[in-house]
Amino acid sequence: MSLRGRMFRNIQTHAESTIDKISVIGAGVVGMAVAVSILGSRITKNLVLVDAFGDTVKGEVLDLQQAALVLQGPTISGGTDFSTTQGSKLCILTAGVRQETGETMQSLAQRNSDIMVKLVPDLVKYSPETIILVVGNPVDVLTYVVWKVSGLPHHRVIGSGTTLDTQRFRILLAKKLNVNPADVKAWIIGNHGEQCMAVWSSVNIAGVRMNELNPLFGSEGDPENWNQIYKLLVSANGQIEQLKGYTNWGIAMSVAAIAKTIIGNRKVIFPVSVNANGNFGITEDVFIPLPAVLGINGVYDIINLKLTPEEITNLQKVASSLMMTQKEIVI
Ligand code: LAC
Repeated sequence: MSLRGRMFRNIQTHAESTIDKISVIGAGVVGMAVAVSILGSRITKNLVLVDAFGDTVKGEVLDLQQAALVLQGPTISGGTDFSTTQGSKLCILTAGVRQETGETMQSLAQRNSDIMVKLVPDLVKYSPETIILVVGNPVDVLTYVVWKVSGLPHHRVIGSGTTLDTQRFRILLAKKLNVNPADVKAWIIGNHGEQCMAVWSSVNIAGVRMNELNPLFGSEGDPENWNQIYKLLVSANGQIEQLKGYTNWGIAMSVAAIAKTIIGNRKVIFPVSVNANGNFGITEDVFIPLPAVLGINGVYDIINLKLTPEEITNLQKVASSLMMTQKEIVI
């Protein structure tokens, strides 16, 4: 009899726990940063990594496993085979290509859409009840593609949307106001990237709205130049890419925060890419970032933001532009 046999009287086969199982698809710089952020925040006891490059993902899994003790014993596994993702509560899609210099958004959308079309059916096959969180770019359009390909209800397919843009906005506002970013209530909506929209009319601290103190707040004509903050946040990604070639930590920690509210059913509000059909006069299936209440069943509610007529018009314009990109994609 083996040592184990002498040590224990086995009662039954040990089961894999899927209660908080998260799969990260794509073990590149974003996927790995997401994995580390999730493990470091103790969000799951069961993390799976999948990537097309077998050796890379095997190496990453082995490397992370060395930390299992300090991470309080999560199961970390993975490989190229999607069957390891079986029963995931949340699948995070980071796989994809990065924008080449001079490449249009349409071309990037098509290249990453082709990748989604290949992997999403396998994911859904093994985890039909999963929530999918799309991270690749252009994230809003890709979320639409993943929703289409997956056949899942739209409340279970979201994109990271403007979670990071909103963080950048709040951090920059907080710095200028010299308070903690958590106390600056402010939202970026509409699109992750250059068409993102700051909801200047709702920016507030402790319920005090900035535009009541400065009616020009956020406008081009504002002598205090608060609008400069918008320019800074829109260029943040490009600036980091120029310096290190890509961005990963900011987006990864935002994604981990979203994962935490989903897995813990915490009902925290994030500006994620959601199907906006029915909001703000939008009558088609277009995925745009709007603040939404998130939990274990995905999107519970989309907030009815009180936008100014001008903000509504801008949002509708952004939605139409995303619709055009969506329609051009060959799925
Ligand atoms: C960024 C990437 C995630 O904005 O698009 O950093």
